[in-house]
Amino acid sequence: MYTGLTHTHVLMSALFLFALLLKSVFLFSGNDEMLERFKRKFKIPEIVVDSLMLLTGIYLAFNSGWTTHGSWFWIKLAAFIAAVPMSIIAFRKKQKALALLSLLLLLYAYGISETKSPVFNKKAALVSSDTPAVADGDNLVEAGAAIFHLDCAHCHGNDGRGGKSGSPNLRESKLTKEEVTARIRKGKNAMPGYERYLDEKQIEALAAYISSLQAQ
Ligand code: HEC
Repeated sequence: MYTGLTHTHVLMSALFLFALLLKSVFLFSGNDEMLERFKRKFKIPEIVVDSLMLLTGIYLAFNSGWTTHGSWFWIKLAAFIAAVPMSIIAFRKKQKALALLSLLLLLYAYGISETKSPVFNKKAALVSSDTPAVADGDNLVEAGAAIFHLDCAHCHGNDGRGGKSGSPNLRESKLTKEEVTARIRKGKNAMPGYERYLDEKQIEALAAYISSLQAQ
């Protein structure tokens, strides 16, 4: 459900931007007639696209671990909130500069989601710079717990019971230790893959910690 809504949100945002781009082309080329025609013809589809984009966005904002974790999310939201009324006024009053500004802001908001969101596996977004290394002889469960609280808990919850970004309760996970290790390495759907960002020892420690949760 979470993944499906993410895809819907990205698709609706792309359509929203595409419509805005087209309208801007008409506005800038002085083609008022085309602009009016487009607005009239696509009035209903535009309302549908805009509403779906907003509704899925609101749902994702409340249910993803990234609102509490990534400042990119708030920058994007601010850019979006500033741009939408600007764009409405710009196209109503045919103000080119304002249209351009709102378009740039919205492209920026879209771009920041594409590059900063965890789906695109950026190290800075995924792994805290405080993430400890794991040395031979360390208690794996304790070391794993420390990494988990820094890098996983914003989705899975401090106690592994989760809920954010569509994540399952890890205490009830039926996966074997090998499968858990593979899932941490490769990820799945909204679960990011960590193999490029955490080393073998850190992943082993996380798997040990998750085994300890499963055993409780
Ligand atoms: C962006 C949110 C997010 C973050 C951050 C995250 N996970 Fe997940 N995790 C998920 C989601 C969503 C799933 C379910 C994936 C699926 O099966 O569709 C999942 C699934 C898992 C599973 C498999 C559970 C099962 O029984 O299917 C394990 C194990 C796991 N995560 C461990 C971790 C560890 C360890 C970290 C930190 C290094 C982490 N996750 C970080 C969202 C997240």
